[in-house]
Formats: sequence, structure tokens, C-alpha cells
Amino acid sequence: MAIQISPSILSADFAHLAEEAAAVAETADWLHVDVMDNHFVPNLTLGLPIVESLRKSAALPLDCHLMIEDPDRWAPPYAEAGAGSVTIHAEAASAPVRTLREIRRHGARAGLALNPASPVEPYRDLLGEMDMLLLMTVEPGFGGQRFLDVVLPKVRRAREIVDAAGGSVWLQVDGGVSAETIERCSDAGADVFVAGSAVYSADDPAQAVRALRSRAEE
Ligand code: DX5
Ligand code: ZN
Repeated sequence: MAIQISPSILSADFAHLAEEAAAVAETADWLHVDVMDNHFVPNLTLGLPIVESLRKSAALPLDCHLMIEDPDRWAPPYAEAGAGSVTIHAEAASAPVRTLREIRRHGARAGLALNPASPVEPYRDLLGEMDMLLLMTVEPGFGGQRFLDVVLPKVRRAREIVDAAGGSVWLQVDGGVSAETIERCSDAGADVFVAGSAVYSADDPAQAVRALRSRAEE
């Protein structure tokens, strides 16, 4: 599958979200929206009203990453609000199969996320229930953290498992993805790349997305 880049607005200027989204509209594939509740992770960001507004103003489809407790309750409304993709954390979901199905039923792509220490093997049989598997390459909660190389063997195993199952599930990495680390991720088999600080700390975010894509394709 072609490489896809999903810039994370967590590193953008929250007072100018529409402009920040527009800055990458020509070069990115998705806009990654990090929803944090200060319970599942020790940080608080944004929620449904902002996603609803972004949905109206942003050209790119929204890739909502829910770092929240009780995603079984809260994820379907994000799909209903028009998110293109809604990802829940396996560590937080009590009924992941039902919730992934609910997300799809509302017309969004369904994603399952795993923290660095969560193994991928228990989810092998659930691959048919999801459109994307997100492997965190930092502990979730903050942008600008250092990439965790220890996750790379899991990315490789996930690629094998996904390919063995027919290969239609996208494999996303999120956290510390930069021009320096993205090649390691693509070599390991990831095909969707979230990048926050590497895009929004750059002088030219659109160009930073182009640079990441060409690095990943090398
Ligand atoms: C971290 C978030 C990431 C974050 C990535 O918990 O899920 O999406 O924005 O930021 P960088 O690319 O700066 O690590
Ligand atoms: Zn994220």
C-alpha cells in the first residue's frame, strides 16, 4: 500500500487550528487528532465539539486517536461526527469488538491502538474487525517524545500477522516519527505515519510532510 502521512495537530497552534490544518492539506493524507481525557493518559486536549468544527473546516479526513477511558461509550459519536477514522486503545476498551463494529456502522474506519508494552499477538484473530492497527512508538500522552526503538520488532511481527491475514489492515505508527526515524518504521512494515513535532515545529509544515513521505518511500 502507498505510504500515508497523518500530521498530528497536537503540535499545532490550538488558537489557529483551521490555518494549521490548511497548511498540510495539499501534502498530507489525514489530519491526526489526539483526544486525551487526563485519565487514560496524564494530559487533556480536546474533544467532540472541536472535532465537529474541524470536520466542517478541514479539507483532510480526520484520523481521531482516542486516548481516553471508556472508549466503548465515547468512540461512536466521533464516527457519527464525521471522523474518517476512529482509533480506540485496546488497554481501555471493555468491548473492543462491539466498539470497532459500532465505529464502522457509523461509516468511519475502525482502528485499534496498542501501547508500547502491549503485545500484538492476542489481537491476531480480531484483525477482521479493524481497518487499522496503531502501534504506539512512545508512551501516549505527549508530543515531542523520543522514538522507542524497542517497538520495532513488534511492528515487524504485526506486518507478518497482517500480511498472513490478507494484508488489508493499515499499520500505523505514532510517536517520535521524524525524518530520522521514519525509515526504520517503514522498513519494519508500517504504512501510515503520524508526525506531530516533525511537521508542526518545521518552518514549512507542507514541505516537512513531503520530506517524511520521500524518506518513508526510500
Ligand atoms: C502522543 C500522540 C501523538 C503525538 C505525536 O500520545 O498520540 O499523536 O502527537 O507527536 P510527536 O510526533 O511529536 O511524537
Ligand atoms: Zn496520536
